This record gives sequence, C-alpha cells and structure tokens, in this order.
Amino acid sequence: MGISIQHLLGLEGVSRDDITLILDTANSFHEVLQREIKVVPPLRGKTVVNLFYENSTRTRISFELAEKRLSANPVSFSTSASSVSKGESLRDTIRNIEAMKIDMVVVRHSSPGVPLFLTHCTNAVVINAGDGLHEHPTQGLLDMMTIRRTFGKLDGLKAVLVGDVLHSRVARSNIWGMKTMGMEVVACGPPTLLPQHPDQLPCRFTDNLHEAVEGADVVMLLRLQLERMDKGLIPSIREYRERYGFDMDKLAWLPQHAVIMHPGPINRGIELASDVADCGRSVILDQVTNGVAVRMAVLYLLGGGEND
Ligand code: CP
Repeated sequence: MGISIQHLLGLEGVSRDDITLILDTANSFHEVLQREIKVVPPLRGKTVVNLFYENSTRTRISFELAEKRLSANPVSFSTSASSVSKGESLRDTIRNIEAMKIDMVVVRHSSPGVPLFLTHCTNAVVINAGDGLHEHPTQGLLDMMTIRRTFGKLDGLKAVLVGDVLHSRVARSNIWGMKTMGMEVVACGPPTLLPQHPDQLPCRFTDNLHEAVEGADVVMLLRLQLERMDKGLIPSIREYRERYGFDMDKLAWLPQHAVIMHPGPINRGIELASDVADCGRSVILDQVTNGVAVRMAVLYLLGGGEND
C-alpha cells in the first residue's frame, strides 16, 4: 500500500498508517545513509524547488541533501536573490517556476496556509517546511522517528513540550502526530505562551513544569521565539530561565531513562542549559541526522518512488 496523501501540509489529519509508513521508510533510508555510497536512484529525473521565504539551517540543508541522495535535481530559491525583492507575488512566483516543469515544491513561509494556497496554484507536489505558527510536519516526523528509534515504540510514551508553545509550529505538528501515534502529550509553559484556544489541540496544558515532567519519557524544549513576540509576554528572560529553562537541577526531576530533545536552533542558557544540551541524555543531534532520512522518505513516497 502506498501513502494516501498527495501533499504534506501538516500532521493534523494524517493517518496512523501513513505516519507509520513514513517512519518505516525513513528507517530504511537511515540504513542507506550509513553506507559509503549514500545515493539511490528513485527520484532520478524529478526536479524539486526549495522555496524558502524564511531563514533555515537544518530544514533547508537536510531537504537539499535528501533530494540529492534520492538522485533528484534540487533547485534552491531564496527571496533576497529572486524577483520577490522586486515585488513579485507568491502566486506569480510559483506559476513561473511551474512553467519551467517542476515536480515538487518544498516551501517555508512566515504566513500560515501558504503551502495549502500553493496546492491551488500548481500541479506539483507541495511539502510544508514550516508555515508561520501553523505546522512544521517534517520536524514532527523526525522527532517521532528519533523517539521510536530510542525507545523502540511510540504507543504509550509520555512527551512533554516545554516553553514557547504559543509560537511553535513544531509543537503543533508534534501534538497532532504524537497523539495519532498513541502518545500522551503535555504542553507546558507560562500561561502567556500557551495557546489561547487550548481545546483546539489534543493535549493537556499546564504552567507547572515540575508536575508536567513527572513520569516523562521525552522532554522537548522549545525555542523562545523572541522575534515573533510582542513585548510583555514574559516578565524577563531571567525569570523565564528560572521557571522553565531546563538545567541540571530540573533534569534530576526526570526518570533516569528520559531523553532531552530540541528542534533547534537552541537559545543556549535560556530554554536549555548548555550542559544539558550536550549531555549523554540529549538526542538533539540524532534529531538532525534523522531529519535527512525522514525527508528522503517523504520525498520518495510523495514523489511516486514506491512504484519503482
Ligand atoms: N528545526 C528547524 O526548523 O530548524 P531550521 O529553522 O534551522 O530549519
């Protein structure tokens, strides 16, 4: 059975079977990536445009690596070096790119809904690489892959997402995906950084960190997104760090087997102390490694690779 979705716009509504297929396929690509020759042929002849309207290190590089390792032809686009700087609209940009015969678009944009909008402007497969405060589905998938490879399962595990939940598209994708895969999810942060409509997301919310992390298998720190914040959401960085910044003292609250995650980039010394980020219980760099395999799996399955 192939994947049942045509585009990857978010993890809300994506079935357990589809997520399992992506994670299983990503595990196979993880093995390929351990070989000396890391390139396989399934997307030979396909062109993928990486349309990044927002900055990125991990997502952009790992999509480009994934495309190259699947033998696709990646074309990278940045707003500063394109006609967007002359005022060209998103719709015109995508229609012009499509006129050059492309197969897939990976898009990151500051506005929620841009990937969905692009599905109405192009026949290419659209993959969301992060749209505003909405979702970052490949991040949620690589996080679940990392948890599954660490514990051998997802069902029944408890994940606690800590920090700036309000501005986090990573949190939203993880909440939808983890819930679908049978995990217990708790989101914790100051009340001002929790969603205004918590009933719209399938998890429990709390501002009490000590209580939240009790019995946790996974604690994922979220970046304090100061660039998306109006003044006054937190009293001060110092107070935030004292209450929610994860340091060695707070690590001692967790069960011995629990692991630490962060989607990056890390504000070291704010949401996560350096010694915790770099300790043996941190799987942060595993998340980055798994990002290439997950993006290979998504490109392969949506690009028709399973027919090869
Ligand atoms: N996690 C993540 O999306 O990182 P980048 O912004 O560097 O892509």
